[in-house]
Amino acid sequence: MAFDLVFFGGTGDLVWRKLMPALFQAYRHDTLPEGGRIIGVGRDELSDEQYRLQIQMRFEQVDGAKRPNSEEFARFASLLCYVRMDLTNPEAYAKLKTRLSEREANSVVMYLSTAPSLFTTVCEQLAASGLNTPQTRIVLEKPLGHDLASNRAINEAVGKVFKEQQIFRIDHYLGKPAVQNLFAMRFGNALFEPLWRREHIANIQITMSEELGVEKRGAFYETTGALRDMVQNHALQLLCAIAMEPPINAHADAIRDEKLKVLRSLKRWTPETLNQHVIRGQYAPGIIDGKPVPAYREEAGVHPDSSTETFVALRTEIANWRWAGVPFYIRTGKRMASHEAHIHINFRSTPHEIFKNPAGQFNTLVIHLQPKDGLELHLFAQDQSKRNQAGSNNALSPVHLDLDFDKRFGSQRVGAYERLLLDVLGGRLNLFVRSDEQEEAWRWVEPILHHWRFDALGPRPYGAGTWGPSAASAMIARDGFCWSEET
Ligand code: BG6
Repeated sequence: MAFDLVFFGGTGDLVWRKLMPALFQAYRHDTLPEGGRIIGVGRDELSDEQYRLQIQMRFEQVDGAKRPNSEEFARFASLLCYVRMDLTNPEAYAKLKTRLSEREANSVVMYLSTAPSLFTTVCEQLAASGLNTPQTRIVLEKPLGHDLASNRAINEAVGKVFKEQQIFRIDHYLGKPAVQNLFAMRFGNALFEPLWRREHIANIQITMSEELGVEKRGAFYETTGALRDMVQNHALQLLCAIAMEPPINAHADAIRDEKLKVLRSLKRWTPETLNQHVIRGQYAPGIIDGKPVPAYREEAGVHPDSSTETFVALRTEIANWRWAGVPFYIRTGKRMASHEAHIHINFRSTPHEIFKNPAGQFNTLVIHLQPKDGLELHLFAQDQSKRNQAGSNNALSPVHLDLDFDKRFGSQRVGAYERLLLDVLGGRLNLFVRSDEQEEAWRWVEPILHHWRFDALGPRPYGAGTWGPSAASAMIARDGFCWSEET
């Protein structure tokens, strides 16, 4: 299956940091369809050979195991070529068309890893040059807008040129192996489904914490913040994967219909819940890995009085029969105590205690997304060594079952971008976001953005290297729970 994969923004960060390494891994794993061409598009004046050289140099900054040796790179590089284009110049698209018509590829993928402000222009120009053939697919990287109106405007502009089945909106969290295993665990096994509901689940916690700060993206982050950067997309997609009903089959629209229902069932915000159930924070100076790090407001590109949030914790509920009354907590931030992502499903306590259960602990199913990938089931058991002289022991101790997918499937793990790129090339939409899902997610976060605009208090400071402002712990404590790492 010969493909042409065009990277608009071909010299940009995302391409060399994530997309090229992912394609190289697929090439190495022998899963990249044969006969492909990878065409970088950028403003710089480069020959194919110079582009290959640039990518080769960038590969040196890539994680050791994912780096090709020179022989491997030479083979991979034969797929790469380059077209210089000013994306705002209609004539430039003729050059791309000439390059693409050198041969007849079975599928052409246009990957927009440019500034979102160019999405509409690029789509219009692709249509004007007849490059929106039925064999063409388009991939859109986030951010897709900064609110509902701008998201709709992009979706409408792209929708005029491409059919929904041709549009692949990336949320790289959906490509993480743990998320696919969450679907497999829920819908490929019968064990948990009877328990997966309000009668048995006390609360659900989604944590996505990073140690990194905003790095060189200060100016971008200033107008984005954690709610738009992580919650509107990644966190809500995880929440959907946990809370959705079993789809009628494994087709993309069946899955996306169920996710959409979850988003539509999210409890609407009220002035009271906006005040009490959403906490925003911003990192102050602190220590990460034993080294001092500056405050967010001291980062390059950030305003010294910035009120952009680098942390969000919130509580929500899903108003339907399965989940009514079960709190879902979401927490994400930069410069936190550790880099990890996991989902904790905390089950209810036994209805009548005959043993002494450890205080405040639950039977918990933990879905680890990173750094490790796997499932843990936390239960209670009797520790025989702790029997007293009378031979009795009423106290239970925590034990856990550990399904480590890295160990079990380790030899050939497929990374998020690798999985998603292969799915685009294969025309599989299951792990991509439909426009109505995306719009519904914006509809839900907008009242928060609006509330913050008029909230003079601003984000609460938290020390870099901590788990965020204490208000986030107070919020969950009001329900009688605590965040998972604090148990
Ligand atoms: C991106 C955000 O979508 O996800 C970044 O824009 C964030 O700010 C990144 O760092 C986190 O992804 P991961 O896979 O490293 O958890």
